[in-house]
This record gives sequence, structure tokens and C-alpha cells, in this order.
Amino acid sequence: MIAPYSQDTGHLEHIVEIAHEAVVTIDAGQRIVAFNRSAERMFGYRRDQMLGTALERLLPGSVAPHHRQLVRHFLDRGPQDRAMAPRRPVRARNAGGEEFPVLVTIYSTGHGESAVATAVVVDPRERRDSNEQLRRLLEENRRNGRQLIKRENDYRRTLAKLIHNDLAQEAVSIAVNLELARKRMPQHSDELESLFKRIEDATRRVHDTVDHLINRTRPPLLDNLNLPQAVDDCIRRLGIRESGMSVDTRIDPQIAGIRDPAKTIAYRIIQESLTNIMRHARPAATRIAVHLGLEAADGQGWQLMMHIDDDGQGITPPTNNRLSGVGLEQIREWCTALGGELSTGTSPWGGFRLSARFPIEDELS
Ligand SMILES: Nc1ncnc2c1ncn2[C@@H]1O[C@H](COP(=O)(O)OP(=O)(O)OP(=O)(O)O)[C@@H](O)[C@H]1O
Ligand SMILES: [Mg+2]
Repeated sequence: MIAPYSQDTGHLEHIVEIAHEAVVTIDAGQRIVAFNRSAERMFGYRRDQMLGTALERLLPGSVAPHHRQLVRHFLDRGPQDRAMAPRRPVRARNAGGEEFPVLVTIYSTGHGESAVATAVVVDPRERRDSNEQLRRLLEENRRNGRQLIKRENDYRRTLAKLIHNDLAQEAVSIAVNLELARKRMPQHSDELESLFKRIEDATRRVHDTVDHLINRTRPPLLDNLNLPQAVDDCIRRLGIRESGMSVDTRIDPQIAGIRDPAKTIAYRIIQESLTNIMRHARPAATRIAVHLGLEAADGQGWQLMMHIDDDGQGITPPTNNRLSGVGLEQIREWCTALGGELSTGTSPWGGFRLSARFPIEDELS
């Protein structure tokens, strides 16, 4: 039978040995009885050089006598664990005689002559290094995300142009030629007329599909309108006011100057939200609010934040969990790639609220 993890001293010794922190154990006489791999790295001594030697070797000469007294006092108090100067670094000394700051947590077990104390030692400079490394990785991640979004935008623009030039023009040409054929044969049979009609209907459907495709790929209006104008256009295209709903748009005037990729992503979020309201919140919903603002981002720069609210039935029960569907998932991915986030919840009217925020960099003129 395998021994429970905590009781298997082999396991525990192994964990201590491979720990990232330096672990140094001393006996009641303040001689070193354990010195793990990280301690070897931190102090520059091999374990066999340290076992049995006095702890003072790891301390600057000036603090050694005082330290000895403190440890004596600590061991006399019996088993305990506490952090010695947990936030304030104390000085240590390595094999090269160099002094450096350490953060120490000490634990003691046993009494009298059998008392031992274990110190877990961390070099705060290493901690700063790994924080810095993490910050750099996050920053790199964000840059890559933005780069991907930019490339996707460019690709979508090219694709939309191709669809327009190749497919849409062909559909127009079929319609024009059909018109010509009709004119050439003013007295044509009913059979031919119904054939013309079928071609005409099919051409119109191709045209609608092409229009839809272009708009999903890259709405051409984004090249000619600023974001607030594009939002108005979207509201008009979806026929929201005609359907009897009121829309209150409140957009920070500075946002009119916003460029890609933030412009396109913001537009897509609003487009998806408004389409969702038309599809999922009616007929209960009677009003919509679209708010777009700029706020200072954590640390530096600005972030774009937006809420799109309706007074429909919302989601029951109200939840911030992910909802299934391609639309929201797609815009969530874009937001995340830009280093932002998207959430869904309940609007102040009790309906559906979609909130998004993401940092903007060089997109604001
Ligand atoms: N304004 C809203 N009011 C109520 N429910 C909503 C609203 N917006 C979204 N939902 C709910 O969230 C779900 C997910 O939305 P999402 O846009 O991801 O998918 P969808 O609209 O169903 O399909 P599509 O992939 O075409 O967008 C919807 O199916 C709907 O149940
Ligand atoms: Mg949707």
C-alpha cells in the first residue's frame, strides 16, 4: 500500500529538496542539519560544505552575535511558526562574501536539545525578476493579439473587396443582360417569361447574399463613416426605430476620432448586440441604450468601455456565465485578443446588458 503523502518522509524530503525557495534547517546548537538545492544556489556553498557548520557562516559578521541570541530565544519558546521580518528584507552573505537581502520565514519544532528550526529563504530580487518577466510576457501576448486582429481586419477588407468586385459585379451583369434579353423579345411566350422571372429572383437572392457576406466580412461603411455615424447607420439598417423601439445613444465625442482595430471591434460588438436584441429580446423589449465612453486604463493609457442595455426579458436566471452562440463568442475572442473583456448580465431595466472594455493604443487621434 502506498503511504499517505504527508506521512511519507521520502516524499517530503524530495519536495524540500526541489523547492524553489532555499530551505536551511539548524539544530539547537545552531548548526546546519539540512541545506537544499536552492540554498546551494542562493549561498554558493555545496551541501557537504555546510552540514554541521555554524549558521553564522550565512550572515554578515556584524549581525551574527545578535542573530544567535534571537534564534536562541526563538527556540526556547518551543514549537512555533512565524515570519521573521516577513516584508522587510534582512541581510545574508554568500560564499563570495557578498551581502544580499533575503526574506525569511522560520518554523521550529521540538524542545530543549532536540529543538530544530527551519528557515525558508527567498531572494526578493528574484521575485522582482519573475514579476518583471510575467509583465513582459503579458505585454508580448497583448501585442501579438493586436497584431492578429490587425491582420484579420486587413484580410477581411481584401476579402470584402474580392466578393464585391467578382461576385457582386457578376450578379449585376446577369441582371443587366436579362433586362436586355427582355427588351430584344418584347413578344415572348409565357413560358419564357416565367423563366426570366426565375432568373431574376435567383439573381436578387445572389445579390442579397453577397450584400450580407460583405457586411459580415467587413462593412464597407466603416471606411467612410466614423464610429458614431456607423452606429447610427447600423440602427437604421436594422430598422430598430421602425419596429417601435426607442434607442438612446450616448457616445463620448472623442470616440468619433477612433481608428482601427478598436473602431471595427467596437462596431462589431454593437452590431452583434443590436442584432441580438432584435432577435432575442423582442417583443418584450421597448427601449435600448448604447453607451460608449473612454476611461483611464489600469496603469496607463485609455480603454474603451461600452454597455448595450435593453428592457426585454433578459436571461433567466441572470448570469454572467458564457452563453452559447457564435456571435457573442466571436466578439469575446476579439475583446480578449485586444487585452480586454466582455461580459453579459442584467441591465438597469432588468433586461439584457452586454458590457465590453478593451485598451486602445494608437487608435485615438
Ligand atoms: N438582448 C438579449 N436578450 C435576451 N437574450 C439574449 C440577448 N442577447 C443574447 N441573448 C442570448 O444569448 C444567446 C447567445 O447569443 P449569440 O449572439 O452568441 O448567439 P445567437 O444570437 O443565438 O446566434 P448567432 O451565432 O447567430 O449570433 C442567444 O441565443 C440568446 O439566448
Ligand atoms: Mg447573435
